[in-house]
Amino acid sequence: PSVAPFSVRMPVPPVARPVASRPDIDVYRIPIQRAEVDILPGFATSALTFAGHFVGPTIRARTGRRTYVTFANDADVPTNIHLHGGHVPPASDGHPMDLIDPGKWRHHDYPNRQRGATLWYHAHPHHVEAEHVYRGMHGFYLIEDPAEAELGLPGGEYDVPILVRDAEFDAKGQLVLWGHPANRTTILANGKPQPYFQVAARKYRFRFLNGANERTFTLSLGGTVMTQIASDGGLLPAPVPRTEFAFSPGERVEMVVDFSDYPPGTQLVLTDAAAGPVVRFDVTRKAADSSRVPTTLRALPALGSATVTRDVVLSFDLTSGNPTGLVNDKPFDPNRVDFQIKRGATEIWNVTNGDGNYGFPHNFHLHLVQFRVLDRGGRPPLPGDAGLKDTVAVPPGETVRVQATFATDYLGRYMYHCHFLEHSSVGMMAQMEIVP
Ligand code: C2O
Ligand code: CU
Repeated sequence: PSVAPFSVRMPVPPVARPVASRPDIDVYRIPIQRAEVDILPGFATSALTFAGHFVGPTIRARTGRRTYVTFANDADVPTNIHLHGGHVPPASDGHPMDLIDPGKWRHHDYPNRQRGATLWYHAHPHHVEAEHVYRGMHGFYLIEDPAEAELGLPGGEYDVPILVRDAEFDAKGQLVLWGHPANRTTILANGKPQPYFQVAARKYRFRFLNGANERTFTLSLGGTVMTQIASDGGLLPAPVPRTEFAFSPGERVEMVVDFSDYPPGTQLVLTDAAAGPVVRFDVTRKAADSSRVPTTLRALPALGSATVTRDVVLSFDLTSGNPTGLVNDKPFDPNRVDFQIKRGATEIWNVTNGDGNYGFPHNFHLHLVQFRVLDRGGRPPLPGDAGLKDTVAVPPGETVRVQATFATDYLGRYMYHCHFLEHSSVGMMAQMEIVP
């Protein structure tokens, strides 16, 4: 079914309510459920959800204050949950082989010993992560940080997470899973097709997440300057004015958009260069605005000097009928650890897209830590990539150099992989182990 653009309102995902709170911890219980959700007007779409919402409830956490989440699997399939961008103990990281069976639950301990940032939680069971995320197992996890609160950035109702993704629907309004990704032509913002969103003539903070399995978005607002304030791992050192930004699956980009120059009645369309309109912002009213975007945001942690260099090559093996995803020529094997990393080590990883000949895009996601992009193809990182990152685009044939410092607090196994989820699902994923 085709829906006229801007005929439905963009919702803001509900905020999860703790089942218990103490001074140093918030406890949540989030059920995983099959549900009929309202995406296309006039249709009920079967989805696999967190608490019945196609974009799950937003968990609002705070730096230095623990979050304890029990994910209860009330669905009929084994699955699991990863906190993308989170610095968490291995048992809470949602290892692709640690499944929560139907009728069971798992406790996740998220210490939030990290900077304020836009994280997200999503399904990560090996082979079916693409399917489960596509069916709706994605939600925001926002870490608020006292150091950030002082800056006076737009907050409250003017701080809006927006999950952008694509989907294909059949004539009955059901998600088509095994079609070609190129047929996922319905663009959803917070789970609605090309919605509108009413805004006041003032500054907003938009936390954009690319929640698509495979699609890279290049978004612009018709030439209006947006101010990028953060990337995956939190605030940039200084705001970066941009008229356009690209992000690949899993990446987050935070923009402050100032609508104060636009009189009520103005409509501004956020548009993807390839897929067309994503969301229309309708300026409907005036509003007071005491928020600001300071010229300095937050210094990045010192880069440190690396003692180890590693190479990571992402590619496909196309020799058989079923493509297999490879990292350094090997498909994922849960019994194999490819890199042993000394805790506290600072390392440079040269991440190469080995599919230059075929033109397949990939990206690179590292669990446990945030990294810095040193350069791509020998060129300095783009300004928006110059902050803390956990996911970075690796275009065909390119090499991106990233540097990470592995913290000393957790030992164990963590993943790194391509975040094009149909690629990781067929093996483009590998395991590292943090060792004493
Ligand atoms: Cu967002 Cu290992 O994933
Ligand atoms: Cu890939």
